[in-house]
Amino acid sequence: MNRIYESMLEGIGGTPLIRLSSYSEESGCGIFAKLEFANPMGSIKDRIAKHMVEAAERDGRIKPGATIVDNSSGNTALGLAMVCALKGYKLKIVIRDTLSPEKIKFLKALGVELVYADTSLPPESPRSYNNLAPQVAAETPGGFYLDQHNNRENNAAHTLTTGPEIWRQMEGRIDVFIAGIGTGGTISGVARFLKEKDPRIKVVGIDPAGSIFYDYFHSKTLVRPSPYLMEGLGDEFLIGCVEFDLIDDILRIDDRTAFRMTKELARREAIFAGGSSGAALWGALEVAKRTGPGARIATIFADSANRYLSTIYSDAWLTEKGMI
Ligand SMILES: Cc1ncc(COP(=O)(O)O)c(C=O)c1O
Repeated sequence: MNRIYESMLEGIGGTPLIRLSSYSEESGCGIFAKLEFANPMGSIKDRIAKHMVEAAERDGRIKPGATIVDNSSGNTALGLAMVCALKGYKLKIVIRDTLSPEKIKFLKALGVELVYADTSLPPESPRSYNNLAPQVAAETPGGFYLDQHNNRENNAAHTLTTGPEIWRQMEGRIDVFIAGIGTGGTISGVARFLKEKDPRIKVVGIDPAGSIFYDYFHSKTLVRPSPYLMEGLGDEFLIGCVEFDLIDDILRIDDRTAFRMTKELARREAIFAGGSSGAALWGALEVAKRTGPGARIATIFADSANRYLSTIYSDAWLTEKGMI
């Protein structure tokens, strides 16, 4: 920190880890959260955007002037917008038509080309959110499909940066690590590093009701997905970055609980975070009930409330969606 950075890319990582004093005192455990909204573009995804693009550059898969294409719930797209601006690539992103207006405005301001996927389409439809991005890449001259959901460089970014940072900041004393599962890159990459350091560390994932990971983990069944409002977590398909063998348990959370915890976090700890952070906090408190007092529990707050002012932080929106 005590030097001049050459570009925004050097500002990625090195985020603060904070002890949640009110929740720690109430639960009798140490509850710690890594504030990933402190990254330059405001989310944990800056780490993977830089790492995945530089890995593809190193092995010659991206050519100068290429157009990078991926699907994203917004945060990876914003990280990629920074990386592409600095490295001279164009960027096309497939988004769900339900994405928060703040993220859409932010992406447009950065000149990202957006392709909207209709969320009412079934997952097997060729135009569904998951299937559209490889097609867009194939149709785009110089298109390169980054595929954050199956690209294991996503996980590697966290094994190389997020995991070691948590280990150092926790001074090597961690009982449980908890993270929401979106692409699975964070939980799998951090778990790989932490379990290598101390195999006794338990890793717990959080999955939204409506997504398929919870049932697959507990009973190896693939249930039919159903819509939910939380952004960034869960999926309709099994994806390559979720390494189930590194995960010890998965908990399921509904939208209402996640949003309630997100707003409570702002009032109790003055941490203004996004919906997946409320979900992660709920998971940490559930785990604290099971471990009993004294456990040291670390989690991730992936992005900030600024992206959800017209959704989670709007009573009109919550009422419209039947959340209050
Ligand atoms: C807000 C938010 N939280 C959590 C996650 C999950 O992280 P990962 O994709 O590494 O599983 C994402 C991923 O999109 C996200 O956008």
